[in-house]
Amino acid sequence: MAEKLKNKVAVITGGNSGIGLGVAKLFASEGAKVVITGRNAETLDAAVKELGSNAFGVVSNVSNIYSFESLYQQVENRFGKIDILVANAGIVLFKSLEEVTEEIFDEITGINYKGVFFTVQKALPFLNNGASIIVTSSTVADKGIAGGSVYVSSKAAERALVRVFAAELAVKKIRVNALSPGSVDTDIFLKAGMSQEVSDNMSAFFAGAVALKRTASVEEMAKGFLFLASDDSSYMTGADLTIDGGFRDL
Ligand SMILES: NC(=O)c1ccc[n+]([C@@H]2O[C@H](COP(=O)([O-])OP(=O)(O)OC[C@H]3O[C@@H](n4cnc5c(N)ncnc54)[C@H](OP(=O)(O)O)[C@@H]3O)[C@@H](O)[C@H]2O)c1
Repeated sequence: MAEKLKNKVAVITGGNSGIGLGVAKLFASEGAKVVITGRNAETLDAAVKELGSNAFGVVSNVSNIYSFESLYQQVENRFGKIDILVANAGIVLFKSLEEVTEEIFDEITGINYKGVFFTVQKALPFLNNGASIIVTSSTVADKGIAGGSVYVSSKAAERALVRVFAAELAVKKIRVNALSPGSVDTDIFLKAGMSQEVSDNMSAFFAGAVALKRTASVEEMAKGFLFLASDDSSYMTGADLTIDGGFRDL
């Protein structure tokens, strides 16, 4: 079978776990040269080993704008210009309006909103014409989820960035789209400091709230990213591919 991403260079932020790792695996199996980033060197090394010889990892924090030059320079030195950029790194936190501190606000928006902005802006000199940029937003961006004021608005900000980036970069034939997952089976709630029990309850709540009555696997998400990364979506830009089991619109 033909490889859909043969010899394409893909950079995936937050590629050492969850959705990003699932995307990296699928892209590698479709012939791409894959670069993944994350903050945790240990999980990054383990992920690179799983991905094989056409992949490498860079420890890099998306909330630090000075980290990008080194990241993208390393990608160019080893693989050349970037064809696919997946701005996926993100964190979640649910707190009531009263509980949100400035520190919490800055941390979430610094990664999810500012992080995505500069992931894309700093990549521009390193992108091939015709590149595909995909931003991992969330189906909750359009919902009034209690306790989600900062997370939900950061995801809505990402969606807004996608529209404007798409408008500005169309002249270079660079396509920019969002992929909005529903509830996906990853460790994101545990990483937010929730206990296993609270995390399971959150997943069960979201599973119960969708038409298909279950959470998604990272593999189900990865197929959507492959569609947006490849020529199969050549006439799509500025759009939002929602893969949420029937949550937002039902
Ligand atoms: N899981 C869901 O139900 C769901 C639903 C909708 C949207 N999403 C979105 O999907 C994306 C991936 O989440 P996930 O579920 O796969 O969770 P995950 O397994 O926790 O993955 C998050 C990834 O982001 C990386 N990351 C976090 N902060 C970072 C930073 N400052 N700099 C660089 N990397 C950073 C993490 O790396 P380290 O571990 O090394 O920090 C990790 O690789 C997020 O944007 C999330 O908002 C998830």
